[in-house]
Amino acid sequence: MHRGWSRSSPRPYPGIKDPSFRRSVALFRAFLHEQDDPDHCYSLLARDSVNQVEAYDGPVAGRTVVDVGGGSGCFTAEFRRRGAHAYLFEPDVQELGDKPPDGAVIADGYLLPLYDGVADVTFSSNVLEHVADPQTFVSELVRVTRPGGLIYLSFTNWLSPWGGHEWAPWHYLGAERARARYRRRTGRAAKHTLGENLFAVHIGPTLRQVRARDDVRVVSARSRYWPFLAETVVKAPGVREVATWNLLLILRRCPP
Ligand SMILES: C[S@@+](CC[C@H](N)C(=O)[O-])C[C@H]1O[C@@H](n2cnc3c(N)ncnc32)[C@H](O)[C@@H]1O
Repeated sequence: MHRGWSRSSPRPYPGIKDPSFRRSVALFRAFLHEQDDPDHCYSLLARDSVNQVEAYDGPVAGRTVVDVGGGSGCFTAEFRRRGAHAYLFEPDVQELGDKPPDGAVIADGYLLPLYDGVADVTFSSNVLEHVADPQTFVSELVRVTRPGGLIYLSFTNWLSPWGGHEWAPWHYLGAERARARYRRRTGRAAKHTLGENLFAVHIGPTLRQVRARDDVRVVSARSRYWPFLAETVVKAPGVREVATWNLLLILRRCPP
């Protein structure tokens, strides 16, 4: 029997205030200062995300955690701070930055250099919208997770107000127009180009695809940041594409 939370059992850490206004406001304020104080923003987000993992799966201490597309490694660092054996896999050396966590591996999430089922927790934050083939990416996350293990998969969907990333919310008027506007306003080329390193991933099709899989069970499909009705908002077709902001899927790897 796995130790995870299920709909029929109470959450093991009811003290964690997620969702709550206080938490969402703190996260939102940190996002507003992402450019001038990235350390605060990402350390807060990392603490919050690991809290979410622990809320569904219990303490991560002693567990093997695989962080796929983890950028500079703030999530890996937080998992390690809590006693997990956490490993960062990131394909882009620039994203790793100057001080990646020890043992960071340069690797693509489509083809992780890992045996099947090695991870107790597989963690992927805001990567799915950056890969051209999300289904293959998810399959690889599932492959490296042990039966009974947890998969934390979050992404910003295309019709989210933040879907266009640095050129949001102008992506609602079209990606090319939004990119051109960004260049005019900042004098710099945008980091993201639709179809190259940012893809229009939608909530409805993603949910249908993960629910159709027989190797994972969807424990929760919820808004990652919302202060209330975090699961309810994801149940409303159409509305959810705009209102969810960022979809968080908590998946449990099924036994073979
Ligand atoms: C928006 S950043 C997210 C970084 C970090 N996970 C976070 O939540 O702050 C997207 C990351 O996805 C990575 N990425 C893009 N394509 C990838 C792939 N095929 N496999 C693994 N990571 C990928 C990028 O290099 C980048 O570090």
